Formats: sequence, structure tokens, C-alpha cells
Amino acid sequence: MPQTDYVLKDGRTLVISRAKKEDAAEMLAFLSFVGKETDFLLNDGTIRLTLEQEEAFLEQSAQNPLGGIFTGRIEGELVCSFGLTSQSRDRVKHNVTIGLTVLKKCWGLGIGSAIFQYALAFARETGVLKNMWLDVRADNERAIALYQKFGFAQIGRRKNALFVNGIYYDEILMEVEL
Ligand SMILES: CC(C)(COP(=O)(O)OP(=O)(O)OC[C@H]1O[C@@H](n2cnc3c(N)ncnc32)[C@H](O)[C@@H]1OP(=O)(O)O)[C@@H](O)C(=O)NCCC(=O)NCCS
Repeated sequence: MPQTDYVLKDGRTLVISRAKKEDAAEMLAFLSFVGKETDFLLNDGTIRLTLEQEEAFLEQSAQNPLGGIFTGRIEGELVCSFGLTSQSRDRVKHNVTIGLTVLKKCWGLGIGSAIFQYALAFARETGVLKNMWLDVRADNERAIALYQKFGFAQIGRRKNALFVNGIYYDEILMEVEL
């Protein structure tokens, strides 16, 4: 999938493209920031990779025809990122898992929707991927509404899968057939 533009609800343009090695420092800062903005992510804002590790990770991800790391920018500012995690073994390589995050000040502008338009088109274009999966905290109503809008259905539930600030939360598993 080439770099793609999406017009948001406020008239600005979101540009989605693959993350590159050169994005590594900005990506680490972004992940640290957004991890502290919301409790709904596994990422709690702790940086777990060095700059060199992140550069190597993004470089390798960019070579993956069935997935990778993607960024969305408004006027150059990094406002969202998402990952499509694929499998290497032949028996499961038709499945891909998506994870995403949007900068809080940009929620409600249609960025989440643009991410799914891009991600579903990317996945379908591979001709290999058949299922897209995701996990979401059971009380994340905003995210669940977004996923349902793009055809995801609940296929399971993990009781007490998440432990956040001293509280256990269930996790819902969702799937869309490509
Ligand atoms: C969940 C998240 C990705 C949604 O991104 P977003 O850019 O706000 O999504 P959109 O603006 O495209 O809205 C998508 C849908 O969400 C729902 N939504 C939007 N605002 C909402 C609100 N205030 N309350 C409830 N649902 C809302 C609507 O169904 C909306 O569709 P519509 O625009 O057709 O009405 C974003 O809020 C986020 O990153 N949250 C924190 C991290 C997170 O939860 N990540 C997902 C972990 S599984």
C-alpha cells in the first residue's frame, strides 16, 4: 500500500505510511507519551527499546509484506501509530493482529476510522491474509464501537486478563474475516 491521505472531520489531512528507520526516535517519544495518556493500552509509557533497537525493529518491519508498523501524520506531526503483526509459520500466516493508538488531543476526528480503512485495504491486498484479530479491554466502549463499525465481531473473552492500577479487567477478542 502506498502512502495514503485521508481528510479528517476538521478538514485537515492525515497521511498514513509505513514507519521508517528514521522515525525511530520520534516513535519512542510518541509511545512513551501516549502510554501515559490512557490506561487502555498495554503500553504504560515505559520505553522498552533503545534507539538502536527501535531503528532495527522498524527497518525489519518495513520489509514485512504481511504486516509492519505504520504512522499517521497531520502537517508532519505524528498523531497515531498502528502495528499489523503477522505470523511466519505457514499454518497460521493468514492471520494478522492489529494494535493502534491515537494521540488523545486528536480523538474523535476520524483517525481511528482512517487507520482501519488503510489496514483492511492493506490486508486484503496481500491476497494471503484471511483474518484480522485484535484484543480490547472490555470497558473500552469507544474502541469497541470503532471496531464494530469496521465489521469486527466478538469471538471470545479472557477473564481478568489485564491488571491496571490495582484492578483486573476482562479482555475481549475480536475478529473480522477479510
Ligand atoms: C479508540 C481510538 C483508537 C479511536 O480513535 P479515534 O480517532 O478517536 O476514532 P474515530 O474518530 O475514527 O471514531 C471512530 C468511532 O469511535 C466511536 N466514537 C468516537 N467518539 C466517541 C465517543 N466520544 N464516545 C463513544 N464512541 C465514540 C464512534 O463509533 C466513531 O465512529 P463515527 O465517527 O462514525 O461516529 C482512540 O480513542 C484511542 O487511541 N484510544 C486510546 C487507546 C486505545 O484505546 N487503543 C485501542 C486499544 S485496543
